Amino acid sequence: MPVVSKLRVVPAHIAQRERQTVRTQIGIVGAGPAGLVLAHLLHLQGIESVVIESRSRKYIEERIRAGLLEHGTVDLLIETGVGKRLQREALTHHGIELRFNRRGHRIDFNDLTGGKTVTIYAQQEVIKDLVAARLEAGLPLIFEASDVSVHNFDGANPSIRFRVAGKAQELHCDYIAGCDGFHGICRPSIPAGVLTEFERIYPFGWLGILAQAPPSSPELVYTYHERGFALLTMRTTEVSRLYLQVPYDEEIDAWSDDRIWSELRTRTAADGNWKLNEGAIFQKGITGMRSYVVEPMQYGKMFLAGDAAHIVPPTGAKGLNLAVADVRIMAQAFAEFYKTGKTELLDRYSEIVLRRVWKAQRFSWWMTSMLHRFDTDNAFDERRQIAELDYVTSSRAAMTTLAENYVGLPWD
Ligand code: APR
Ligand code: PHB
Repeated sequence: MPVVSKLRVVPAHIAQRERQTVRTQIGIVGAGPAGLVLAHLLHLQGIESVVIESRSRKYIEERIRAGLLEHGTVDLLIETGVGKRLQREALTHHGIELRFNRRGHRIDFNDLTGGKTVTIYAQQEVIKDLVAARLEAGLPLIFEASDVSVHNFDGANPSIRFRVAGKAQELHCDYIAGCDGFHGICRPSIPAGVLTEFERIYPFGWLGILAQAPPSSPELVYTYHERGFALLTMRTTEVSRLYLQVPYDEEIDAWSDDRIWSELRTRTAADGNWKLNEGAIFQKGITGMRSYVVEPMQYGKMFLAGDAAHIVPPTGAKGLNLAVADVRIMAQAFAEFYKTGKTELLDRYSEIVLRRVWKAQRFSWWMTSMLHRFDTDNAFDERRQIAELDYVTSSRAAMTTLAENYVGLPWD
């Protein structure tokens, strides 16, 4: 079949020749947390990889996402040498507050989990640190790749084709890591009938803002209110990150700054002298909420990680942490293969990571279900949710369940 190249119609075999080919061990699609942490861990094991990203460096370094790291994620970044700025700038938290009926209840992670903590450090800061480490080490990370496609991963010669600056390239590799997020091309390239999808879509989304205002509380506040959920979190000691539950089809234009502050004040109101700090809003957006898992997370010589294989609603802040947990196992499996030639861990990759994925799904669904209004007319559900919050904040056993999941279950 003829192929159009530089406005000339050339036969396919000549187009093939014009495609520049490169070889590596692992071809990684996507430079989000999953792709970049994987590339970093592989490098430390002496395994070569090339990361292919469709967006620009600026875009991925500025993309606003969540910002809460489990203690295991933090340990991994520090132990592997990319946690220096994190150690200087991040905020360590020893607990969270659950607020309902105008009263706050602290969940003390320190006490309940034997000293574990969580850390506030925005996802784009993690991305900046990983990109800088990779580029400083002179390792391949290709931005603004277009027409990315994956080939032959069910056979012996997997490859990734793409274009950069109009030039066709083909990366031959031993394995492909599909780290290209929920809307990427890796998962949909797996033949029909192989994957099973599990999904729950929620009838609401989160309106998120960044505001030039010091955090109103030293720790995160998760609020249940009859008008809907609200979350007070932060980025720095000067910048607040605040979220409101809104209907899933809500338009951002319906939310003026005044309306956002008024709704936040109402939902987070508490007895005593607590006050919501307000300031200039410099970013706002709405994201939908979904729980999604695909099984298995591998096919032939392609392995999926992070949002390419699963999505959690943000209520438990598990998205980035799960992506890191996946690639930690994937890197171990590749290391075993290159050291011993054995594919035992690679063969079991999906089975191993899905156990953690489903526990994080359960936790994220549970936090979401406990804290959001699903049906504002349903008085039974409201009483039940209040009873659950009352239980979770008064039983040490229940608080421990929340705390150990929130800080991150052990990595086994
Ligand atoms: N080719 C190359 N890159 C692609 C393609 C493609 N066809 N499609 C998507 N990408 C890139 C995206 O631009 C993005 O940079 O893949 C990357 C995927 O990154 P993320 O979406 O951040 O996914 P992941 O690395 O799995 O991290 C999961 O990110 O979405 C948040 O909340 C989520 O915190 C979680 C974390
Ligand atoms: C955030 O800081 O963006 C954040 C924190 C906790 C969550 C979700 C988002 O549950």
